[in-house]
Amino acid sequence: MSDTLPYATRFGSNSGQSTSRRDGVAKVTGAATFAADNHPQGLLYAVYVPATIARGRVTHLDVAAAKAHPGVVEVMTPQNRPALAGDPDSKPFMFAFRFEALQDDTVRYANQPIALVLGETIEAATEGARLLNPQYQVMPPRVGLDAEAPYKVVVGNFGRPGETVHGDVAAGHAAAVQSVDVTYETPAQYHNAMETHAVVASWDGDQLTLDMPHQAIVMSRGVFGYYFGIPAENVLLRSPYLGGGFGSKSIANGPQVLAILAARMTGRPVKLMLRRDQMFGPVGHRGATRQRLRIGIDEAGHMTVLEHEALAATSTFDDFVENAANASQGLYAAGALRSAHEGVRIDIGTPGPMRAPGEASGSAALECAMDEMAERAGLDPLEFRLRNYAETEPGTGKPYSSKALRACYAQGAERFGWAGRPLKPRQMRDEQGMLVGWGMGTALFPAPMFAAQARATLRPDGSGLVETAAADMGQGAWTALAQIAADGLGLPLDKVEFRSGSSDLPDGGIAGGSGHTATAGTALHAAGVDAVRQLTAMAVSDPASPLFGAGNASIVARDGRLFVAEDASRSDSYADILARAGGQALVGTGSGGRAPEAAGRHAMYSHGAVFAEVKVDPDLFQIRVTRLVGAFAAGRIINPKLANSQLYGGMIWGISFALHEEARFDPRTGRIMNADFAGYHIPVNADVKGLEVITVHEDDPFVNALGIKGVGEIGITGTVGAIGNAIWHATGTRIRRFPIRIEDLLAHA
Ligand code: MOS
Repeated sequence: MSDTLPYATRFGSNSGQSTSRRDGVAKVTGAATFAADNHPQGLLYAVYVPATIARGRVTHLDVAAAKAHPGVVEVMTPQNRPALAGDPDSKPFMFAFRFEALQDDTVRYANQPIALVLGETIEAATEGARLLNPQYQVMPPRVGLDAEAPYKVVVGNFGRPGETVHGDVAAGHAAAVQSVDVTYETPAQYHNAMETHAVVASWDGDQLTLDMPHQAIVMSRGVFGYYFGIPAENVLLRSPYLGGGFGSKSIANGPQVLAILAARMTGRPVKLMLRRDQMFGPVGHRGATRQRLRIGIDEAGHMTVLEHEALAATSTFDDFVENAANASQGLYAAGALRSAHEGVRIDIGTPGPMRAPGEASGSAALECAMDEMAERAGLDPLEFRLRNYAETEPGTGKPYSSKALRACYAQGAERFGWAGRPLKPRQMRDEQGMLVGWGMGTALFPAPMFAAQARATLRPDGSGLVETAAADMGQGAWTALAQIAADGLGLPLDKVEFRSGSSDLPDGGIAGGSGHTATAGTALHAAGVDAVRQLTAMAVSDPASPLFGAGNASIVARDGRLFVAEDASRSDSYADILARAGGQALVGTGSGGRAPEAAGRHAMYSHGAVFAEVKVDPDLFQIRVTRLVGAFAAGRIINPKLANSQLYGGMIWGISFALHEEARFDPRTGRIMNADFAGYHIPVNADVKGLEVITVHEDDPFVNALGIKGVGEIGITGTVGAIGNAIWHATGTRIRRFPIRIEDLLAHA
């Protein structure tokens, strides 16, 4: 690939290095400023007032009492809320959701906003909020997946079809000599990034400045412009650092819009930062699912049919039905495939994309159902998957742009020691008498790309400046993207300044879908190559250059110099070339994304295999994940350290999904009973042992010019199923509901 780039800009030495985070020191020393660290002159503090019922009407708010409190400046309620130019109940863009912004007195879910209190201090505003003492007319909430009749999803999230059928499903069932028909449930989960949602909004006439963590920095200008009736260019959004996003910070929500509206209403800058418990409702979540899987196999253990139906909860006012059944479309070579989705409308905030949306929940159920099928067939679970290995995308027959899944299976199994696994459950104990079980799951996530632009400047001193509004929500974009950019420019990394995280820069695309490195990276690389191309043209036509007359095609760029490829003694430095040309900086531009033809011809996914060991106390049924080995193939790995970190993070979330995480709704009130980190469990260090990641070499000539897929989300897929299967293998008990708890195992004891 490197040899086919224009003017032979090498895929240089920066990519592939385990460079430490360039923003690491700023973050650990506190020098990095997050949105809520901004304190513009005249700042007012907003306190969010959440509904404490899940369904009904607000009948009274004691606004007078709140306003009488010293330091309270304003109370915004549906009564006095200024008009918005764009209707929060409209869906004008693909990434737009309906949301509550004090349209009226209706309560559609617990924790939706019912007022915003503004004070000179956070204390005054907090006390003002307490004094509002809301009164309600309460209606019985609809809680859980059975609260209403389900509806069929015709068009699913982001335009994907709700139902997909390939082949003759009835014939596939009829041809099966063995089958399973199993139903799995996954709970509602909430993103809960370390940094809760925050915004500091300042108006200057019709100019709006937002300090706000965001995963889609430039795109959001148009989104906020729409709601406030101003052109996108009037919005400056600064998001240099995010304390996590996980999908929650990719979409406009009610709290953000209300804070911006409050700033306009009061004529002063306003800061709003959600409290931890307020994260449970207004800013999206992973909706609960119930998934039925039917698998049939023939005598040889080949799948004749794979049918995956998913029911998922959405709100009463918008559609985001977790597309969990899509997980079954791209993976196994079943004779017939069907995936279908249904939604159920209940009194919750609208779900949204949350790390590995669809695939996280879907692969949890799919990989457990595969294990159940293997068990019934008397096959080793890995052998069963290999018998059903898809050489082309099931259903469509498209070739994969690359698929090193066999190598993932082999390397992961080898590392884990899978070969010695007994087929039957409850066969292994450790020295302490703990039940030991081994399970595995296949990991899969699509490799989408979005559109991005970038600018690369060669400065007169020969150093580089690269610019794109990328979002680093902790995944290391500042570092990995700078490495790619440095290679595009033919410079060492320390000679490249990377400017990012502000909407006045070229559009870096959305940090989502595991596509940010590929998307923004290809744009940055192209911009660098463009700058080097211009520089080369200057050098080869300059009689004073050692490269004069060399011809563009034979030039390579490396370490701030251009060389003749066949004769390294002929070279010229960037600084000298620019100095002779008058000492002006030189600007290259580039765009990222994928040619539509390429997207149409190939199926593009990252793949992996996860192997889990659990130990279960035979009397108390405590579950420990003692080892996890994940082998992943995700195209070119730009920074192994950061990529591993992403994969570790995904696998840890897999532990969380399998054993810990669940929002519990009170059936009487519709409120979440564990909306805090005491009750909403996530893994701590003691829960995470023996984590190992292997990145499997994979060349992908089709996915994009740089061969990059993504690693942000795939780690959670495969892991959940592997753990569930290991628990079965340890205990002989199959639990079909996540998270798997002590009491679930006790009930079967
Ligand atoms: Mo994500 S859920 O694509 O940020």
